[in-house]
Amino acid sequence: MASRYEEVYGAWRANPEAFWAQAAREVDWIKPPTQIFDADAGVYGHWFPDATCNTCYNALDRHADGGRAEQAALIYDSPLADAKRIYTYGQLRDEVATLAAVLQDQGVTKGDRVIVYMPMIPEAVMAMLACARIGAIHSVVFGGFAAKELATRIDDAKPKLVLTASCGIEPGRIVKYKPLLDQAIDLASSKPQSVILLQRPQEAASMIAGRDHDWAALVTAAKSAGKQAPCVELAATDPLYILYTSGTTGIPKGVVRDNGGHMVALKWSMKNMYGIEPGEVFWAASDVGWVVGHSYIVYAPLLHGATTVCFEGKPVGTPDPGAFWRMIEEYKITALFTAPTAFRAIKKEDPDAKHLARYSTKSLRTLFLAGERADPDTVAWAERILGVPVIDHWWQTETGRCVVGNLVGLGLLPVIHGSPTVPMPGYDVRIVDEAVKPVEDGKMGSIVIKLPLPPGCLPTLWQNDERMSESYLSEFPGFYKTADAGFRDAGGYLYIMGRTDDIINVAGHRLSTGGMEEVLASHPNVAECAVIGMKDSLKGETPLGFIVLKAGVDRDPAIIEKEIVALVREKIGPVAAFKMAVVVDRLPKTRSGKILRGTMKKIADHDEWTAPATIDDPAILTEIVDALQKKGV
Ligand code: COA
Ligand code: AMP
Repeated sequence: MASRYEEVYGAWRANPEAFWAQAAREVDWIKPPTQIFDADAGVYGHWFPDATCNTCYNALDRHADGGRAEQAALIYDSPLADAKRIYTYGQLRDEVATLAAVLQDQGVTKGDRVIVYMPMIPEAVMAMLACARIGAIHSVVFGGFAAKELATRIDDAKPKLVLTASCGIEPGRIVKYKPLLDQAIDLASSKPQSVILLQRPQEAASMIAGRDHDWAALVTAAKSAGKQAPCVELAATDPLYILYTSGTTGIPKGVVRDNGGHMVALKWSMKNMYGIEPGEVFWAASDVGWVVGHSYIVYAPLLHGATTVCFEGKPVGTPDPGAFWRMIEEYKITALFTAPTAFRAIKKEDPDAKHLARYSTKSLRTLFLAGERADPDTVAWAERILGVPVIDHWWQTETGRCVVGNLVGLGLLPVIHGSPTVPMPGYDVRIVDEAVKPVEDGKMGSIVIKLPLPPGCLPTLWQNDERMSESYLSEFPGFYKTADAGFRDAGGYLYIMGRTDDIINVAGHRLSTGGMEEVLASHPNVAECAVIGMKDSLKGETPLGFIVLKAGVDRDPAIIEKEIVALVREKIGPVAAFKMAVVVDRLPKTRSGKILRGTMKKIADHDEWTAPATIDDPAILTEIVDALQKKGV
């Protein structure tokens, strides 16, 4: 099929408001929009400013009442808990309506924040949708974060209530959530009124009388009383959720998503970007703690009447590198969406794809990759073993969906390995220099998006318009700064090469090296430190910390290095994957005192490097080389 990309992108360019007005017809509104965009509202404008709607209604009731009550909405498959369950649209709506009534009984109403700190179980999806149903703003916190990170989010969001489970399950270990939550609430200055906790069979959590409530008991009681909460009418511009993501400091950014624009954009993407029809099975192998999980495990597939999958497992080791192929065969999955790291992990353990031969993956039409740069080798390997198109697409927590991609539903453009292809309708993407001047094709520059951002992108940061403007809108006036760098080729294809800030990408997880440096610096023996992202053949990058000890510290450096590794795990969490700290005598700096992290990264990556002309003392670089050699880097 010839691609209709040019025609559709051209239609958006010619009249963005008409384009989004048309897309908005696919959503059930309580009060349909009469105004499509208000340029004067908010930080850069608001979409559908006079419309009202309910996201949970569109995700569940619309389908349950519209002929899909018996169709599978949510498949839960957990090799880690040895459990499988399927919820139809009818069942999921009932579960969510009951849980929403439980939340209301706890005093949660429209605009209240609810933290969801849960593993990959169906109740996490229900928790999000129950909040959406009554207009409470959910904020999901990934289970791999430590108590301190959770506390920071509690202090910013000030939740009335926390929904949690007794544990998550990682291969070979139970992650006890409750002690982490209790510690986080102790650390936080803003205390939630109540906690609703789901006891899992793998771990019984202790409860604090008066504050903690048993999930199952509350839901059972609400069911026997026949309680179900109806969908609440919300402004399209009301927040649906806050999702915290790494910023350049230890304080994460609270990305806000609204209700109306988000629904319009995600619904549009299911057919046009992913080529999915209602009733088909769409699997995003991510976690509800990340944006991919929000958009493509929970909201988009359900808004579209598709079947979504909640997988509590890993690409390898649960039990083997055939896990993904087993899932595809068992649930007749049409499209799989994951991070390149997952495929690198499978390739490493099963380079000849022997496990694939045990299963039929004939239902699979497309593999989508995002979250980090898709290296051409991995893309080529995936294409070869699966025999389906492998589509890289680029996006960010802030945008909530793809910015640059290849629209499967409109007919594919030729795939070029290393490029996520072209801008999506809604996005005028430019490559510019510091003076906001376009750079030539083939030359690297900063990637920016002309304002306004399309529906579904963040309207602001939670209660912080100022940080929104400062972080994203001030450096390139009239544009949104993506903080990614890249280039465009002569054919208009975009290449996303890396971040311009201190964010690193570890196994598709976005992490702040600045945040890690704050932790390293808090160790009593550390005078100075620097954290860089070092190339890693599996995870893309892994963090590497350099520390200079305070004068007079005569403890064994190896012990201090171990303490530093443990400290990052304790303060940020296992997800930081911080496994190596190196004590050095001095850090290389410019004459004006700026630490030369870029040069240290080149040394650690074994890339070609030269001492920058501005360096204060070139001998320090040799010391770094020696220190890394001793560590086997
Ligand atoms: N709760 C608690 N801990 C978690 C966790 C969670 N939800 N998720 C990960 N962790 C822990 C891991 O157990 C690991 O701990 P360890 O240091 O004790 O081994 C640590 O965090 C680092 O996790 P990760 O970087 O994911 O490495 P891994 O070795 O456990 O797994 C892969 C490697 C490749 C299998 C895994 O990273 C993966 O599936 N990646 C796919 C990428 C992805 O889903 N990205 C999401 C965005 S699209
Ligand atoms: P997150 O907000 O966690 O989704 O991370 C967003 C960042 O991940 C982007 O700013 C990029 O640096 C990186 N990223 C995501 N998808 C891609 C991709 N397809 N290619 C290159 N980088 C990507």
